[in-house]
Amino acid sequence: MLIRLIYASRARSMGPMDIKDILASSRRNNTRLGVTGALCLSNGIFLQCLEGDRMVVNTLYHRILQDARHHDPAILDFQEIVSRQFGAWSMGLVSTVVDNQALFLKYATGAQFDPYEMRPETLRAFFTELMNNTRWLA
Ligand SMILES: Cc1cc2nc3c(=O)[nH]c(=O)nc-3n(C[C@H](O)[C@H](O)[C@H](O)COP(=O)(O)O)c2cc1C
Repeated sequence: MLIRLIYASRARSMGPMDIKDILASSRRNNTRLGVTGALCLSNGIFLQCLEGDRMVVNTLYHRILQDARHHDPAILDFQEIVSRQFGAWSMGLVSTVVDNQALFLKYATGAQFDPYEMRPETLRAFFTELMNNTRWLA
């Protein structure tokens, strides 16, 4: 069964090598697991979308939770999907670069990007627009 899980967590202070490392292991493991998705980092908050088989995504999510590079995880959306949105991405990364700032704030409830405050429908719309418009890094 194909599902999409969206969660947020708070990043601990980390260097650019940490992000590179997260991305490298994500791409390596997710390709093998048949998991696709996107990872955003903005305002010190990670927002990740994981798509794939329900049990595979569950197991992966629980592994990611063990990672000391973030804390305060919260599942924001979990639903069955008909098809993948990020079919071509084992894990895309979007950071707050100037080009994406307006997009982040378009879906923010306040002056700062805070996914913990976003409704599932808003999150889905955000990822759809992200997929279509964003400037992908790395
Ligand atoms: C915010 C965040 C997102 C992550 N996303 C993934 C992911 O999608 N896939 C993955 O395999 N590891 C992800 N990781 C890294 C894992 O926690 C873990 O370090 C990695 O899976 C270890 O794999 P390796 O032993 O093959 O290096 C993420 C870590 C963080 C902090």
